[in-house]
Amino acid sequence: MIRRPEFVRYLNDRLFDEPLLIEQMGSNSNLSLMIQVFPFSENRRLLLAQDVTDLRKAEAMRRDFVANVSHEMRTPLTVMTGFLEAVQTLDLEPAKKEEYLELMMVQGKRMKSLVEDLLTLANLEANTQPAPQSKVSMQTILAMLKNEAEALSHGRHVISIEGDANYSLLGDERELISAFSNLVSNAVRYTPDGGNIQIAWSATPKNDAEFSVRDSGPGIPSEHLPRLTERFYRVDRSRSRETGGTGLGLAIIVKHVATRHQAQLLIESAPGEGSRFAIEFPSARVVSI
Ligand SMILES: Nc1ncnc2c1ncn2[C@@H]1O[C@H](COP(=O)(O)OP(=O)(O)O)[C@@H](O)[C@H]1O
Ligand SMILES: [Mg+2]
Repeated sequence: MIRRPEFVRYLNDRLFDEPLLIEQMGSNSNLSLMIQVFPFSENRRLLLAQDVTDLRKAEAMRRDFVANVSHEMRTPLTVMTGFLEAVQTLDLEPAKKEEYLELMMVQGKRMKSLVEDLLTLANLEANTQPAPQSKVSMQTILAMLKNEAEALSHGRHVISIEGDANYSLLGDERELISAFSNLVSNAVRYTPDGGNIQIAWSATPKNDAEFSVRDSGPGIPSEHLPRLTERFYRVDRSRSRETGGTGLGLAIIVKHVATRHQAQLLIESAPGEGSRFAIEFPSARVVSI
């Protein structure tokens, strides 16, 4: 530490009212230290060194997050105000006007779903307790997911569902539905027309239970897999946006719904081979109906 010029300068300058932040410390250059010198007695000084690495990381994450949210909001807002200006200042034909209004509606909806996802994330984050142990009927949920998938697909995919509806989950129904339907809607949205989507629920009372969604879509190159659960991370930004994605779905499921249910998200995917997303629940959360 003594070799760092900024530290030597700090000591020599004797201006100890402010602390000194030294970054890139340690053998891997990954530590941040906050250093401050205090008068201790007549001729003594107390040097306090604090490891602020995690704090600095959290600050950086917060900055990134705010920048991301602002960026995500700015794009639809720019498009929307552009069209509004056109409608206001130009003498448009009714058909053209109608078209512009429709485009504005799309952007408005995009912002709405972004704000809704952010609010869900904020709600889940505020709640660090484990999920409740209420019985959640998988039979009802599976039927609902099938309807939802078919409505979203408009007959463009073959959707099948299989599962042992004799076993249900213990947890928070609203959260579980939001997690499952996120996986289903991803499969429908990223799988080209004519593809297959298989929704499955397998459970036995003694073992872990698993909800999974398999699709015959494009698959995901392995370098992206570890990053999929980061907020706003998308393999293909434009494809995600076109289909109404916010990049928050998996972040919401994994970080929160799964954690709160002591469950794990497993992703298997390779380019050209489709994807399989599964949430694995511990046996303590499975009951027979
Ligand atoms: N079934 C899937 N097939 C291919 N890519 C997927 C699939 N599910 C998720 N992805 C990729 O993971 C990214 C993150 O997913 P998600 O967090 O749900 O955000 P989004 O709102 O973009 O759907 C998506 O943008 C997409 O690139
Ligand atoms: Mg999604």
